[in-house]
Amino acid sequence: MALPFFISHITPLTFFYFLLLYSSSASASPPTAVTDLNITSILASFQNLTSFSSLLSSTSVASDLTRRQDPITLLAVPNPYLSLPPSSDLTRRLPPTSLGDVLRYHILLQYFSWTDLLKIPPSGVLVTTLLQTTGRAPANFGAVNITRNPLTNAITIQSPTPYSDSNATVLSLIKTLPYNITILAVNSLLVPYDFNLMASETRPPPGLNITRALIDGHNFNVAAALLSASGVVDEFEADEGGAGITLFVPTDGA
Ligand SMILES: *[C@@H]1O[C@H](CO)[C@@H](O)[C@H](O)[C@H]1NC(C)=O
Ligand SMILES: *[C@@H]1O[C@H](CO)[C@@H](O)[C@H](O)[C@H]1NC(C)=O
Ligand SMILES: *[C@@H]1O[C@H](CO)[C@@H](O)[C@H](O)[C@H]1NC(C)=O
Ligand SMILES: *[C@@H]1O[C@H](CO)[C@@H](O)[C@H](O)[C@H]1NC(C)=O
Ligand SMILES: *[C@@H]1O[C@H](CO)[C@@H](O)[C@H](O)[C@H]1NC(C)=O
Ligand SMILES: *[C@@H]1O[C@H](CO)[C@@H](O)[C@H](O)[C@H]1NC(C)=O
Repeated sequence: MALPFFISHITPLTFFYFLLLYSSSASASPPTAVTDLNITSILASFQNLTSFSSLLSSTSVASDLTRRQDPITLLAVPNPYLSLPPSSDLTRRLPPTSLGDVLRYHILLQYFSWTDLLKIPPSGVLVTTLLQTTGRAPANFGAVNITRNPLTNAITIQSPTPYSDSNATVLSLIKTLPYNITILAVNSLLVPYDFNLMASETRPPPGLNITRALIDGHNFNVAAALLSASGVVDEFEADEGGAGITLFVPTDGA
């Protein structure tokens, strides 16, 4: 037989070399790899997505995406809809960390072609978003429920609970690169269920300078100097992702 004859002529070293060649070429191209998807440059060709694209870049969600290697579906809100409430309120009020999480809720960790969307049952499908991977969404609140109206084929995306009133409807398919990314235009930003919008609104703006705030408040110069000298101020100011703080500070007289 030719086969055993052939193998007997391969030295262990050659065989090892073949193995090495095989494994390195196999790991160089995993079957589901997405090669260098730069969301900023993909979105750049759409005039009506410029604001959404700058939000992705300014919150560093765009660079999160560049590092990811898995297929996604992006729910993008075109400029005219982004400037309407409730989307406009969110982009104006939320600090970048919270806005980043709202945007991560628009990145579905699954590739949907238009045909896939038209097969969605009226009872809906639950799809995980990039927000779920941050660990900041309790239970499955980082997932969305995508439903399709069987009569109109309207596709609606909402938080997976009966209590959520945040929803968005798909307007059009913007672009699809099978089987890596689909970009859908939707008519509103979605707010994840139980997302603490009130806490976010009352958070201090990033870059808060407590010393400055106290001096501006007059009557607190002594406290400001003490806080500054003790280093406590630096600790508070470094905690920019924090939930907001209330300081009880004595006046200069006290
Ligand atoms: C999409 O993914 C495939 C592998 O599934 C890859 O070969 C292809 O280059 C990717 N296309 C783009 C535009 O990234
Ligand atoms: C993505 O593309 C934009 C412009 O097209 C460029 O400024 C940016 O550096 C690119 N990002 C990466 C990670 O390559
Ligand atoms: C956005 O612009 C693209 C062309 O750049 C167009 O195909 C698409 O319909 C527009 N979408 C919306 C929702 O305005
Ligand atoms: C998704 O939405 C549909 C239609 O509103 C509903 O019947 C279904 O229970 C929802 N699924 C989840 C997991 O919330
Ligand atoms: C979507 O939200 C609008 C207003 O925010 C509400 O009137 C409508 O009933 C919601 N639709 C669904 C399917 O939840
Ligand atoms: C905060 O404001 C004080 C007083 O204006 C200033 O001395 C200090 O350098 C500021 N700190 C920072 C981190 O900007």
